[in-house]
Amino acid sequence: MTLAVRGLRVARGGREVLHDVSLDVPAGQVTALLGANGAGKSTLVLAVAGLLRCTAGSVMAGDDDLTGLRPERVRASGVAAVLEGHRVLASLTVADNLRVAAGRDSQAAYAAFPELRELAGRPAGTLSGGQQQMLALAQALLARPRYLLVDELSFGLAPGVVARLVPVLAGLARDGVGVLLIEQFTSLALDLAEHVHVLDRGRVALRGTPDEVRDRLHTAYLGDVHGEL
Ligand SMILES: Nc1ncnc2c1ncn2[C@@H]1O[C@H](COP(=O)(O)OP(=O)(O)OP(=O)(O)O)[C@@H](O)[C@H]1O
Ligand SMILES: [Mg+2]
Repeated sequence: MTLAVRGLRVARGGREVLHDVSLDVPAGQVTALLGANGAGKSTLVLAVAGLLRCTAGSVMAGDDDLTGLRPERVRASGVAAVLEGHRVLASLTVADNLRVAAGRDSQAAYAAFPELRELAGRPAGTLSGGQQQMLALAQALLARPRYLLVDELSFGLAPGVVARLVPVLAGLARDGVGVLLIEQFTSLALDLAEHVHVLDRGRVALRGTPDEVRDRLHTAYLGDVHGEL
């Protein structure tokens, strides 16, 4: 099973920002999507999740055609996204955020992230960035997705928090979930991923195994801003 993106074109603000992008997110693997600021990584996630319209191309999850479906239909088809900036509902408590996401018992989320249980009664907006990212991931996990798209796992987080989240993603892949990981810390993504795709100004410029892309990555596409964790 594979989440297959084919020939995707997406325009924002009247300008095409994804040009004919194709990539696979195979089940049971972590696939990394890298690229400089503005390359189009978040646009790809938003388009696959049904939050932005595509002007051409298709998104298939196995035999299910997700192209042009509304976000809730995409989610119902087993594709969950953790969006950039960990969007949680700030005025609702942690427990209510999980209830909204799952429509049922949240025990699985507390099992994955025990610290969320202690925070259950707190409004989500009062949590730290790391805690909010955990909550956003927990919400996505409660949907028991077949595919999980994570936009900037480590953004704004302390290294210790990132170290807690990484095994969660690796474990999901081991359990058969197809994970697409967007990450500014390329070393983290290259360590976790089986396959890597590099976007450059809306096109896939480079792809391969981590070993194949590692050397060419920094000099060619990412500049100096992408550091090591
Ligand atoms: N709301 C918007 N309206 C118009 N253009 C946008 C909007 N958001 C992003 N863009 C443009 O779309 C292109 C792709 O942006 P996108 O956010 O997908 O890049 P990114 O790879 O996620 O970058 P970053 O690493 O900074 O998160 C950029 O040229 C950006 O300026
Ligand atoms: Mg982005």
